[in-house]
Amino acid sequence: MHDQTRKTPDEIFQYAHTHDVAWMSQNTNHLPAYKAVRDAIKQSVQEQEYNKYPIASGLPGLPEAIAQDIGMPDYKVLVTAGGIEGIYILARALLRPDDEVITSDPSFFMIHKVMGLTGARCTNLPVYDPPCKYRIEQVKEAITPKTRMLLLIDPLNPTGAGYTQDEVRAFSELARDHDLLILDDVTYRDFAEGHFETTRWAPERTFIAYSFSKSCGMAGMRIGALAGPKELMDKVIPYNTNDLSVNVVAQRGALAALQTKKEWFPKTLKICRDNQRRIRRAVRKVPGASLPVFPSQANMFCIDIGATGVDPDLVEQRMLFDHDVFIRSGNYVSKQFGSRFIRASFSVPSAMARRFAKAFPEVMEGLRRKESPPPAADSGQGAGPAPPSPV
Ligand SMILES: Cc1ncc(COP(=O)(O)O)c(C=O)c1O
Repeated sequence: MHDQTRKTPDEIFQYAHTHDVAWMSQNTNHLPAYKAVRDAIKQSVQEQEYNKYPIASGLPGLPEAIAQDIGMPDYKVLVTAGGIEGIYILARALLRPDDEVITSDPSFFMIHKVMGLTGARCTNLPVYDPPCKYRIEQVKEAITPKTRMLLLIDPLNPTGAGYTQDEVRAFSELARDHDLLILDDVTYRDFAEGHFETTRWAPERTFIAYSFSKSCGMAGMRIGALAGPKELMDKVIPYNTNDLSVNVVAQRGALAALQTKKEWFPKTLKICRDNQRRIRRAVRKVPGASLPVFPSQANMFCIDIGATGVDPDLVEQRMLFDHDVFIRSGNYVSKQFGSRFIRASFSVPSAMARRFAKAFPEVMEGLRRKESPPPAADSGQGAGPAPPSPV
């Protein structure tokens, strides 16, 4: 067992990147890449395609394949270095100081950060408690004359909750009624049992944030896209930070992944679903732990440990340093609720999910013992005060 002092984020990543860990912390996909994808990447490297700048509008066929994948063949697609770069460009182009953006807590806060750089304000509506996603009334009440945009992360990182068709329609109508832009972040949509984009009801005001990092397993390649109606994209594209285009090797892999997704993704999905169930069995062994959302519509979910009184930062560290399982403390994805949960992603080989399943009950048991105060000494006058019940 390693020393018990708290580690810094740098130390955590140092360790994780230099050990053979079960990487269940960033919703990335660690299943073996499909051969066609690996071949496309290898061929690009062998041919030294990287000597040239890629075509600025994107590898021929790639923007079209993305537009096709989201079912919006007329949308304009900007290929970016990860979905987050597209969101950064969008924010710079269209958000102004004092604008408000409807966002949630928990959430993927890097988006809030880039929006905040423009001087815009994120609302961070509380959504940790069931249904673990926005409620229509909640969003309606949060709209003010300053509201410029609705950020819809669907399914939501980290809760794994997805929106129904009726909900997405209602959000689209709300955006229309109040003349809001919608940023529909579909990073995790491939994992959902059913998925509905706002493009169906509000195509004229929807931007799609698109990523190859999760379902396609290419997080380290840094490739994604922003897509939207031509008139809006024409306002955004002048702010592109990457006029010389993005990594050509990544673009080759991305195109191959889209062209073959139907062949390989069902297997990925099956492994994810099996892993979710395996993790649920482990969670059930821990008194006080529970899953707010099951089944998750994404490749991650929150494991609520609020009732155990155990600090999720310590769970993250003990899982990593004692068991080589890398999960995330809730504090990474929630300012208001982070002390109540950990987040685990499960697009990993089953052996890694099994490693989690073995380690989690042990870590929780160990920390619970450590964190509970020692029983009061017997004063000879009956039992001492009961230890405080965990929050
Ligand atoms: C909701 C959401 N959007 C965007 C991203 C970033 O994706 P990319 O790696 O394509 O930049 C993430 C990454 O975790 C995410 O959770």
